Amino acid sequence: MAATRTPAKFYTPLAIGAPEPFRALPVRIERMIHFVPPHNEKIRSKINSIAAQVDVVLGNLEDAIPADQKEAARAGFIKMAREADLGTTGLWTRINCLNSPWMLDDVSEIVASVGDKLDVVMLPKVDGPWDIHYLDQLLAQLEAKHGIQKPILIHAILETAEGVNNVEAIAGASPRMHGMSLGPADLAASRGMKTTRVGGGHPDYSVLADQTEGETDRGRFQQDLWHYTVGKMVDACLAYGLKPFYGPFGDFSDAAACEAQFRNAFLQGCLGAWSLHPNQIDIAKRVFSPDEKEVAFARRILEAMPDGTGAVMIDGKMQDDATWKQAKVIVDLATLVAAKDPERAAAYGL
Ligand code: GLV
Ligand code: MG
Repeated sequence: MAATRTPAKFYTPLAIGAPEPFRALPVRIERMIHFVPPHNEKIRSKINSIAAQVDVVLGNLEDAIPADQKEAARAGFIKMAREADLGTTGLWTRINCLNSPWMLDDVSEIVASVGDKLDVVMLPKVDGPWDIHYLDQLLAQLEAKHGIQKPILIHAILETAEGVNNVEAIAGASPRMHGMSLGPADLAASRGMKTTRVGGGHPDYSVLADQTEGETDRGRFQQDLWHYTVGKMVDACLAYGLKPFYGPFGDFSDAAACEAQFRNAFLQGCLGAWSLHPNQIDIAKRVFSPDEKEVAFARRILEAMPDGTGAVMIDGKMQDDATWKQAKVIVDLATLVAAKDPERAAAYGL
């Protein structure tokens, strides 16, 4: 059996003076994690209006930030976190990976300066629970040192073959775990997949329709390259009460394909995705807010079965305890969306 802390010790703070870990995740709507490059002053100056449009603002310090801008990005994130008025929008940062020359200063300086404003640290290239244990301990020491009252959560990027192998142990590594995002670009490289794309499908990953005599034009059906990993991640996350996310979609010019990829993830259980470009914000809102008609139908199920048991027919469709639970997932999500998004609240009648 893998070595894990006993139930008695699992929720004990890892440093004297650090806050108690959460027993259950704070309830928040996180349909998109919107990436900003914090060394860019122009973007920083617009942060309040960006924050008003998204559920989470993430200051990215890792990949896509040039090596000679890493310190400027860290300093820019601290400035932005200090000055911004984010309202109910979450504040996250993606730090550099554990073996990089920047990670220790990323965490130490950010927690020291703005640890009381930071909701979540996104940790890239997580290979196993040992990576989470290290950051968990470090965060506890820094929280204690700087008098942080609210525990800072950890969100792991699932983007190495070893990480996918260890996904369940990563999910269970600490009560500080918030969730995970699929990182299709690094994962493709780590696995030796033959693609240069950042997420999405690939025209060569397909199946052919059956051969029929005289028919030369056989149908070809593209498959979802990420189906297996998303499924594995969703099961690991939900088994541990964490939140699963699809990550980046790199082709900003193909909104339809981005929407299809996000929607597959949503239907499989993911609660959000990354937005790397402003035009992906509305796509994520559309996909990760439940559909109005589904919400209306789900509400009818809940109303028809007030105590959640028995069986009823609605529009010729059988409903029982299991569909009542499905309906509750949708109505609970709609209620969360409605609290943040007045237009959708009206459409849901909530
Ligand atoms: C994200 O970090 C990815 O590698 O896809
Ligand atoms: Mg990556």
